[in-house]
Amino acid sequence: MNKLNTIIIALLISTAFVRAGSPVSCGSGINCNLCGDTDEIRRNFAAVSQTECSYSKCNQATPINGFICQSCYGQSDAVQALNQGGFYNPTTNSCVISCPYGTQPDYTTSTCHSVKPGNNVACSTAVDCSKCGATQQIQNLFTPVSETDCQMIDCSQTPPSYNGYVCKSCYQVSGAAAALNIGNFYDPGTSACVASCPQGTQADNTNTCQIVKPGKSVICGYSGSCSRCGDTPQIANLFKPVNNSKCKMIDCSQTPPSYNGYVCKSCFQATGATDALNIGYFYDPGTSACVASCPQGNQIDFNNKCKPIPTKPGNNISCGSGGSCSGCGATSQIVNLFTTVSQSSCKMIDCSQTPPSYNAYVCQSCYQAAGAIAALNIGNYYNPGTHACVTSCPQGTQADNTNTCQPIPTKPGNNISCGLNGSCSGCGTTPQIVNLFTPISGSNCKVTDCSQTPTSYSSYVCQSCYQVTGAIAALNIGNYYDPGTNACVAECPQGKVADIKKNCQIPQTIIGKDVSCGTVASNGNAANCNLCGDNSIVQNLFSYDTTTAGQNCQFKDCSTIPSTLNGWICNSCNGVEGSKIPVGLYFDGSTCVSTCSTGVATSQSNWTFNFYSFGILRKYYNHGKKRKRVKSKIYTIDNFRERTGTRIAIHLIDNYFKSKHS
Ligand SMILES: *[C@@H]1O[C@H](CO)[C@@H](O)[C@H](O)[C@H]1NC(C)=O
Ligand SMILES: *[C@@H]1O[C@H](CO)[C@@H](O)[C@H](O)[C@H]1NC(C)=O
Ligand SMILES: *[C@@H]1O[C@H](CO)[C@@H](O)[C@H](O)[C@H]1NC(C)=O
Ligand SMILES: *[C@@H]1O[C@H](CO)[C@@H](O)[C@H](O)[C@H]1NC(C)=O
Ligand SMILES: *[C@@H]1O[C@H](CO)[C@@H](O)[C@H](O)[C@H]1NC(C)=O
Repeated sequence: MNKLNTIIIALLISTAFVRAGSPVSCGSGINCNLCGDTDEIRRNFAAVSQTECSYSKCNQATPINGFICQSCYGQSDAVQALNQGGFYNPTTNSCVISCPYGTQPDYTTSTCHSVKPGNNVACSTAVDCSKCGATQQIQNLFTPVSETDCQMIDCSQTPPSYNGYVCKSCYQVSGAAAALNIGNFYDPGTSACVASCPQGTQADNTNTCQIVKPGKSVICGYSGSCSRCGDTPQIANLFKPVNNSKCKMIDCSQTPPSYNGYVCKSCFQATGATDALNIGYFYDPGTSACVASCPQGNQIDFNNKCKPIPTKPGNNISCGSGGSCSGCGATSQIVNLFTTVSQSSCKMIDCSQTPPSYNAYVCQSCYQAAGAIAALNIGNYYNPGTHACVTSCPQGTQADNTNTCQPIPTKPGNNISCGLNGSCSGCGTTPQIVNLFTPISGSNCKVTDCSQTPTSYSSYVCQSCYQVTGAIAALNIGNYYDPGTNACVAECPQGKVADIKKNCQIPQTIIGKDVSCGTVASNGNAANCNLCGDNSIVQNLFSYDTTTAGQNCQFKDCSTIPSTLNGWICNSCNGVEGSKIPVGLYFDGSTCVSTCSTGVATSQSNWTFNFYSFGILRKYYNHGKKRKRVKSKIYTIDNFRERTGTRIAIHLIDNYFKSKHS
């Protein structure tokens, strides 16, 4: 209306000075030929400026057109017909003040023309048509018709600028301006509507032909068709064949309304690809987006789509309560591995995954569950020491009430002084035994755990564990160790004696020294020791010394004390290492002694001489059959032997005495 007012004011001003119509904008700068389509009309217009002309026949009713109505409206000399309004209505062939309903003024010709509304196009925002064009000018060409659709108000006029929605709305509308009736698409390259987008371009979802950015080849074709590149034709049609088995995205520069893994793969890193299609090779249906890698718990299927890895649930375990699994682990990390089955029962969600940390309930739930990983399919027990499921708890541990292997409390033994300087190396002959001990201090050591059965041990082990509460039976028998049976014993078995370390040993025989009670072989009689004792029992305790082959015999074993002793025994064993025979060369009638009592002569034999018997001996020597000369008086057997220089044959004396006394 502003324009109309201006025209009216201009007309009023101009009529004050000239008796002609007001100037209208149909001048060409040279003539007024644009002011009408007949010579008659053109002739009656006169140029008043470079662009304007005035009509000079406002006083006659014909001819008539928009410029005439506009120039004559309001003129004092205008006939009634030319003073009705500034617009020409072709339908009634008259000037009008405003165009009737269904028509619209064409301001360039001041002529009413009937509008030609376009078809519906889907660019409504449900409020207005602001989506229908990038500029206000284009948006104003549209009017909303529904929540989704707008339409061109008038296709009969070619707007100064337009777009794909304009082309599409006006295409095939009768009365549409020729420029708007070419096709559905708008080609920005030629700023024109087109029937189909030119080569190298493709219509986007605003019907605008865009320069396409093709993707890379992907193997989703089949027999030269790309129908398998998408589950829907909408997606499959985004592709075009490369060859029999390969297709590629026609255009990666547009984000399609829906897409898939082949789209992601074809467009990833393709030149000109839109951001949404340039993320990665895979499609995540969870987020409906291309991704560089599938989210955790997903794997890639054969068409580049992320899909959840099937879980392998575990067995029911009674570690829940009140419908919660919080009792199934000490940390939320472990608890979250479980899912509720019932009020008190839970199960592992997925035994096919390696959990970051776990416990006995995890082991139990996954043990023998289908698809469980090897580490979770070993057994029902959990060994925290090795952080592993186990078939049974290792030695030294026992399962607690949650099936977790816990160290068995040790039962240490008593102090034994078998170590040295804080080491227990003296407590056993092998490292295996030594390692059973813990040093206490100095030479003190103790068995670390008497409740365990050692594979081999020693008397120190027996001693340390004896009478210790909790000691195993085999270690609670006694202080002695019998290597023969590899057992602790209360006392050494028959035939064995305890050594200083309380080990039961077969006693060693300790052979005595040579003593001269032997008899050389003669007259067919074998050499013997018959003179070494007065009966065969004692004689048999001696053995003839064949190496010296004289009159020497040796007491067979000084380590055992015979029931009766004699001087030969004392003499043979005296000073021999390990001898148990009482110390002393001499026999005093009951035991070995170092010196004889005063007034008692010594003898190397059983025989004890008193003065009386010695007197008899001297008489024998002086008066007997074997009399010999002696240089001086004889007091003892020894100086007797020394004086006579003769080795006296005791048995002769023996016989002599026997003969004298019998
Ligand atoms: C398809 O083209 C690729 C090269 O782009 C070629 O390696 C492949 O062998 C072709 N396949 C067929 C079936 O022609
Ligand atoms: C686990 O418990 C549920 C619910 O009580 C039961 O239906 C299912 O059979 C049980 N599964 C096994 C393996 O025992
Ligand atoms: C073992 O020896 C240590 C150090 O001599 C001593 O303190 C401790 O009381 C002893 N223990 C027993 C049970 O004899
Ligand atoms: C025991 O330790 C003491 C003090 O450290 C040292 O003098 C001694 O030589 C050690 N004895 C042995 C047999 O190592
Ligand atoms: C020593 O000989 C005497 C006389 O024959 C005998 O009575 C005695 O028992 C013997 N003593 C020993 C210890 O053999």
